[in-house]
Amino acid sequence: MNSRAVLVTGASGGIGAAIAHAFATNGDRVMVHYAASQERAEATVAELPGAGHQLYGADLTDADQARALVEATVEQLGGVDVLVNNAGIAVPLHPILDCSYEQWQAGWQQIVAVNLIGPANVTYCAVQHMRDQGGRIINVGSRAAFRGMPTVPAYAATKAALQAFGQSLAVALGDRGIAVTAVAPGIVDAGMALPVLDGPAGESLRAQSPLGRVGTAEEVAEAVLYLASPQAEFASGTVLDLNGASYLR
Ligand SMILES: NC(=O)c1ccc[n+]([C@@H]2O[C@H](COP(=O)([O-])OP(=O)(O)OC[C@H]3O[C@@H](n4cnc5c(N)ncnc54)[C@H](OP(=O)(O)O)[C@@H]3O)[C@@H](O)[C@H]2O)c1
Repeated sequence: MNSRAVLVTGASGGIGAAIAHAFATNGDRVMVHYAASQERAEATVAELPGAGHQLYGADLTDADQARALVEATVEQLGGVDVLVNNAGIAVPLHPILDCSYEQWQAGWQQIVAVNLIGPANVTYCAVQHMRDQGGRIINVGSRAAFRGMPTVPAYAATKAALQAFGQSLAVALGDRGIAVTAVAPGIVDAGMALPVLDGPAGESLRAQSPLGRVGTAEEVAEAVLYLASPQAEFASGTVLDLNGASYLR
């Protein structure tokens, strides 16, 4: 397979960095996007195997910056064949019985902006380049879409919405050779889950799966790499559970 141009959002660390590494190992050229963590993103790029990888900082809650990220990818990588919408946040917490109305609104506004509107805008811009040549779009959703997240309801809601958004586009773009899919990981031993896994709740979180562990960023990355492959075209519209049988639907 020829080297593809791959845009991975939120690739400064955690799951996004593992996804970037998987594509680079596969021989693809990766645009490593970050928001605030420039140094970590520079370290991620420096560790990628292969050549031609790039780095770009953008706050994806800003529609102009989202468009600029896609344009920089097209310019620096020579196109955009694969888009992985990985950037996401699970804070601020806003438990409905234990937060103020202001905290409630802040939670919804910030999380919807990063987890849903940001990916929608990046996707719009990327599709303008894929529309005549085909491509792959993979959204990083979550088990929370099905299982809920009591202290961060906006997180679960945006992940369900992101997965449904992808399914709409799978139908809209199927005849263009653009396959759109999602992964729905359970808890992963990386990124945003590390503080809680290292805390007192860690044991019970690992026990949610009959495998007695949580997932790894590499397991998510390998699944994303498959969904981006030519062989996965007919998987378009799928939401792939990666949760060690901790939640069956
Ligand atoms: N870890 C888990 O257990 C788990 C489970 C299921 C799904 N997920 C999903 O996997 C994805 C990656 O999560 P992770 O665990 O690897 O967490 P992470 O390390 O915190 O990564 C989140 C990424 O999102 C970026 N980001 C945050 N705010 C942004 C903004 N305003 N604009 C653009 N990018 C922004 C961050 O960039 P900077 O650091 O540069 O600011 C970072 O690269 C998320 O979508 C998450 O919901 C994670």
